[in-house]
Order: sequence, then structure tokens, then C-alpha cells
Amino acid sequence: MTERNELCWCGSGKKYKKCHLSSDEEKRAPPAQRGVPARTSAKAPQKGRQKTPAQIDGMRRSGVFNGQLMDYIRRYVVAGAVTDDINTLIHGYTVDHGHIPACLGYRGNKRVFPKSCCISRNNVVCHGIPSKSELLSDGDIVNIDLTTIVDGFHGDSSETFMIGAVDRNARRLVGVAARALIAGIDAVRPGAHLRAIGEAIEPFVNAQGCSVVRQYTGHGIGAKFHESFSVYHHIEPRGEDVIMMPGMTFTIEPMINLGGFEVTTDRKDGWTVRTQDGSLSAQFEHTVLVTDGGAEVLTLTPSQRAAGVRLFVDGEAYR
Ligand code: MF3
Ligand code: CO
Ligand code: CO
Repeated sequence: MTERNELCWCGSGKKYKKCHLSSDEEKRAPPAQRGVPARTSAKAPQKGRQKTPAQIDGMRRSGVFNGQLMDYIRRYVVAGAVTDDINTLIHGYTVDHGHIPACLGYRGNKRVFPKSCCISRNNVVCHGIPSKSELLSDGDIVNIDLTTIVDGFHGDSSETFMIGAVDRNARRLVGVAARALIAGIDAVRPGAHLRAIGEAIEPFVNAQGCSVVRQYTGHGIGAKFHESFSVYHHIEPRGEDVIMMPGMTFTIEPMINLGGFEVTTDRKDGWTVRTQDGSLSAQFEHTVLVTDGGAEVLTLTPSQRAAGVRLFVDGEAYR
């Protein structure tokens, strides 16, 4: 997730949005005018963000591998599993296939991420660090977020797993998070504003009595892990105008809380993000490509592809 409000990676002590955010947006175009009707002159300014056919091919291949990795790891996400052991399996599978776990050594707000994936359990919203002392137990919900670099291109996806008998509210939250991702993907359409994604997600989530985390967003993705624009999952009036164009690739990854949207980052490890009110949080993420007709989900897993679904949660299909 791109974190606009945390300290810049360069060590300046300034917030990222006040420092390197804009320079990170390579080939960044002048912002389109607000209120431009869809499918108009906003085409040109978005040009630098559209991948070439060769880059799209690279993104397809990294997405396929990331999906394979997700299907590989799901059998190990069970009660009694130690999260650091899950991390070890993810790392091993990735390097054994000749690829690179993007999280390992990733630079955030001055800190380097120490593991090869993020594992975020219960009230942890995102960026949980796999640990030798963290065990999955009956009743937990746990998100596993995988990002792999395959021949220079990033694939990024996550799922929330339910461990054993999960209580009604947790189960409901996981379903809302899955639906939120599907609603976001369904809002992808060439010529539409990127903010259509948040406009589809937030009202739905709020109507379910849950909330959308605002501090973290989806992101452009390609040769870089977090590139160019932010993909808001909520309605953000200050967001940059971006028009979705065929060839753009980005993630959609709404983090949904059972309570309020506010979050806090662990001061000691600098990474673990928790809900401020201690409520449960769930998330699903896919990397998508904007096509002429809508969205192509690049990170579908082999089992999702075979079943023709975009998510499979505890036996339930989200088409
Ligand atoms: N995979 C996360 C995302 O969806 C980012 C994790 S960054 C890490 O954007 F450093 F914590 F791994
Ligand atoms: Co992401
Ligand atoms: Co991710």
C-alpha cells in the first residue's frame, strides 16, 4: 500500500506526500481537469501510465505466478501453523521457481521489511510481519499478502483465510471484504475515472455496517512495486484525477474494518498496522489490467481460473 502520510523513504523526515511522492510518479502527466466527461480529452495525459504489449505480457506472467503461489500456500494456512513457517514456505517456493519475493528488503518509512510476505491476523489491517511466536488458532481470520517479481514485473494479491470455526461477525466481515474487491473490479472501465472504484466500494461497505480504511490504498504496479497513482477505496475528494485507460495496471485491495476506519502503526516494528479500536479487519487484493472492455484480473489463481471465479472464500464463489 502506498502510504501518503508516513515519512518519506529518503530519510528527509518529511511526509511522503510532501516529499518523493510526486517524483516517484515517473512519466507523471499533468492532472486532468476535474469533471471531464468519460472518454474525452483526458486520454493524452494518462499515456505514460499505459503499459506496452511487452510490459503487459510481463505483468500477465507475474500475475499467474503470484496466483500459483497463493494456491500453493493455502493448504498450510491452518490452526497450529506458525506464521514464520508460512513465510519460509512462501520464500522457498518463490526462489525455487527463480523469482523474487518483493516484500523482503522492501523499504518503507525508513525501515526495511524483514520477511517475504505480509501476514495480518485479526485486528491487524496490513503489513503484519511473520513471526516465530505467532500461531494461527481456531477462530482467527488472517490475511496473506503476496508480491512476487517475475522477470522484472510485480504481481500483488492477498486473501483473508478463516481458521476453523470463525464467529458470525468475523465471517460477515470477510464476506464484505470479498464483495468490496469484486465491486471495485466491476467499476474498472476504460474512460471512467479511477475514483469510480472508491465510489463503488465505500457506500456498499458502509451499508453493511463496516468501514473502509483510508490511510492505505491500492497502487499502480509494474516494474516498480508501488508506482504512480493511488487507488482509493473510499471517496476521496482530494484525490488526483486519473482516467482508466487500456494498458494500465494497478491493484485493488480494500481493507475493511468491523469498527471504525482509523488505524495505527506499531511504533516498535514500524510496520504492523492495527485498527485503532481493536476491531477485526479483512482484505482481498488482486492486480488488474484495464482492457478495452473492462478489467482483466491478472492474479487469478489456478483454482480460480478453473472455476471461472474471481475469489473463492471458504467454498463460496465470488464470480
Ligand atoms: N503487498 C502490500 C501491498 O499490497 C505491500 C507490502 S509492503 C511490505 O501493497 F513491505 F510490507 F511488504
Ligand atoms: Co498492493
Ligand atoms: Co499486496
